[in-house]
Amino acid sequence: GCSCRIGPSILNADLSDLAKECQRLVEAGSDYMHLDVMDGHFVPNLTFGHPVVKCLRPKLPGVFFEMHMMVSEPEKWVEGMADAGADMYTFHYEATDDPVGCIRKIKEAGMKVGMGINPPTNVEVVLPYVDMLDTVLVMTVNPGFGGQKFMTECLPKIEFLREKFQTLDIGIDGGVGPKTIQQCADAGANLIVSGSALVGASNPRECISYMRGIIDS
Ligand code: DX5
Ligand code: ZN
Repeated sequence: GCSCRIGPSILNADLSDLAKECQRLVEAGSDYMHLDVMDGHFVPNLTFGHPVVKCLRPKLPGVFFEMHMMVSEPEKWVEGMADAGADMYTFHYEATDDPVGCIRKIKEAGMKVGMGINPPTNVEVVLPYVDMLDTVLVMTVNPGFGGQKFMTECLPKIEFLREKFQTLDIGIDGGVGPKTIQQCADAGANLIVSGSALVGASNPRECISYMRGIIDS
């Protein structure tokens, strides 16, 4: 199997103090940060871009930044994010008509590459690209907002991928927390993105170790 890693999404955090929010979640035992970038076009919400990441980078030395790029034309921001210090660039299958070109650009920029698929998207679309990818991010909400309901109907996609690719890093994103982590573990996800459940937890350290225990068991 693969190592379980837990990456908080800060979408519903206090974005007026992004560095502090990230630091406290890292201190609570997070393995990486999942930074949600939205352009108001691919999804009906707008967050931040590479200028913010560039400022955040030095405040979290050594912390792996996964950029979850919920943007149209994801190729456009690859260099900016690489210069800003992003470690992984997860773009959406649905956002580009040239996934291979996008993957190549991301790798040339020195970042790891992930491909995200939305709930309506058939998991088989990723098959031609899996051997070029570092991870596949399976959405369990329609992207755009934190705090939404976990969509159990997306779990078979994770089961399908885990069955075919034992060592592939499979991410799950949307409505993941202590109440839904068991289903995520059973399906075979190992990169756990959790937003409001972690950001809102009274004891994020406890929440992280609980979820890690379930996934690692
Ligand atoms: C949604 C984002 C998710 C979201 C997760 O578009 O990609 O990362 O912020 O937050 P929760 O865990 O609250 O659904
Ligand atoms: Zn996300």
